[in-house]
Amino acid sequence: MKPFFSERATRFTESVIREMTRVCLKHQGVNLAQGFPDFPAPAEIKEAATRAILGDFNQYAITWGTPVLRQAIAEKFGWYNGVTIDPETEITVCCGATESMIASLMAIVNPGEEVIVFEPFYENYGPDTILCGSHPRFVTLHEPDWRFDEQELARAFNNKTKAIVINTPNNPTGKVFSREELQLIANLCLKWGVVAVTDEIYEHILFNGATHTSMASLPGMRDQTITINSISKTYSLTGWRVGWAIASPRLTASIRKVHDFLTVGAPHPLQEAAAVALRMDRTYYKTLAGGYQERRDFLAGVLQEIGFRVYSPHGAYYIMTDVGHLGVTDDMAFALDLVKNVGVATVPGRSFYSHPSSGATKVRFCFPKRMETLKQAAEKLKKFTLPSGKR
Ligand SMILES: Cc1ncc(COP(=O)(O)O)c(C=O)c1O
Repeated sequence: MKPFFSERATRFTESVIREMTRVCLKHQGVNLAQGFPDFPAPAEIKEAATRAILGDFNQYAITWGTPVLRQAIAEKFGWYNGVTIDPETEITVCCGATESMIASLMAIVNPGEEVIVFEPFYENYGPDTILCGSHPRFVTLHEPDWRFDEQELARAFNNKTKAIVINTPNNPTGKVFSREELQLIANLCLKWGVVAVTDEIYEHILFNGATHTSMASLPGMRDQTITINSISKTYSLTGWRVGWAIASPRLTASIRKVHDFLTVGAPHPLQEAAAVALRMDRTYYKTLAGGYQERRDFLAGVLQEIGFRVYSPHGAYYIMTDVGHLGVTDDMAFALDLVKNVGVATVPGRSFYSHPSSGATKVRFCFPKRMETLKQAAEKLKKFTLPSGKR
């Protein structure tokens, strides 16, 4: 009998990150697995959402986004990223960065074409490339500083390459791609006619003076880049599901069609409130980054103290760690042990690699949590005996 499920759906697993959240809930642990804040979102944005609901912004918005939000996105992309865009023709508002990414890839990639992905990668990019029928090609980010090898990157490009997915600041490594690195990638995109799809959702979470560069701002790349972003991380609103893709009018026309038939649109009242978020006072972003730097320093210190190898992030809100030197050989068993017996949920390294063995000695912690939550996690972790007994 023919199977009822598609072959496509058998080629990827459920999200390990979201699975760890469910396991954490079961064991009533501290969730340092899935990247969402446990502190409240800014009051003025929540009030704007309430006003929008009471003001009856409750029916479908224009499929590609309510005008006020597209205008606010264009203004912000102008002052922060240095690129002037037309809100009428170059923005598609979607259900989070998640839908923006899959809609964009489906809009540009044909089955059999190749998509380059830096590895380790945010786990959604694997299924995204499969769902759009492409062959992913991985280029390694080498620890400890997560640099890529120029030759390896150049070898990944060929006539079948359609897109390259970039995520800066990067989840899970915390790498912030330098302007020089982005220029190298841009040169290859221009040479091979490849679209850069760049996920910049952590663009404001930067540490120790690191700066964010948008691929679309590099010479010649404006029309060959799709910039993905959302309100999830910058404004601590992961549950609202409002994100967007910025691209040239021709690419946008294609993205809008896919988006329309995938979801029709993002929640209308929350789009109205998102416009208020994007227009908040610019001091907000400094405070946001400062708060995260304090949390990073605290958690990194605790992990180092108990013997983890810590790759201190320059941006985003994750800490990638390695525990191979402590005798850990199975990241999944280790992460399950941590959540069941210690009460701290993490993400096993394998969920960021195409081959599980590449992440076998790694686990990722996230820190978008109240300091008291991180302190609670620290107390639990300090009681933990590592497999080798080393501590
Ligand atoms: C790199 C990256 N992109 C996208 C997302 C999901 O974004 P959204 O909530 O806007 O769909 C995440 C969430 O963790 C992420 O880390």
